[in-house]
Amino acid sequence: MLLHLDASARRNSFSRRLSALYADTWRAAHPGAGYAYRDLAAHPVPHIGEAWTELCDHVLEHEITDLARYPEAVRTPAQRAAWAIVEPLLAEVVAADVILIGTPMYNYSIPSALKAWLDQITFPRMSLAGRSFVVTGARGGAYGPGTPREPYDHEERYLRDFLRGHFRVEDVTFIHAELVNARLDPALAHLREQHEESVAAAAEAVRKEAAAR
Ligand SMILES: Cc1cc2nc3c(=O)[nH]c(=O)nc-3n(C[C@H](O)[C@H](O)[C@H](O)COP(=O)(O)O)c2cc1C
Repeated sequence: MLLHLDASARRNSFSRRLSALYADTWRAAHPGAGYAYRDLAAHPVPHIGEAWTELCDHVLEHEITDLARYPEAVRTPAQRAAWAIVEPLLAEVVAADVILIGTPMYNYSIPSALKAWLDQITFPRMSLAGRSFVVTGARGGAYGPGTPREPYDHEERYLRDFLRGHFRVEDVTFIHAELVNARLDPALAHLREQHEESVAAAAEAVRKEAAAR
């Protein structure tokens, strides 16, 4: 099953275009496989609240690692309301073989819409081992190896560290379209060609990656 998420505040967005290309290619290669889509920007999941933290604390304190036992943590009406939000999000991510995330870089990191989803679905000692994550990204600048901005990329580094460190996911692929700001910023006009090349290379990489899985 492919779970496809988008997080850009724009409808006409590079990360959305790349994730759609990935999803179309993957689905053509896996006819009959399940597919779920969530637009985290158009339909944001709420931020976690106090009742959510109570569910989380209960799971931690009682060393619950089997997700089927999470409902044991629900003891109050507020916790029931929190669980009603979490349950379908968790079910979706656990059922997926591949989790595809189309996301922009916002302020050197991920959009809050994506962070809100991650906060909702993350519980102590929860593993998503064996699943693959594919992130199709877009950013205004260039953050590749050797660029002056490389150390400021807290988007890829954060997601890679979090997915590996917490969820034990080793298979994480990032494909970025870069220098998007060169389309708008006159000071970056000389980088437009490089931007176009980055978009074309990202689309090619997405096609290859999706067809190979
Ligand atoms: C709120 C906001 C913050 C941004 N922060 C950064 C940033 O820190 N670094 C960067 O390179 N580009 C930044 N950008 C530019 C976006 O990453 C770029 O427009 C990208 O194409 C957005 O993805 P999308 O095309 O999928 O919407 C920012 C854009 C917005 C709207």
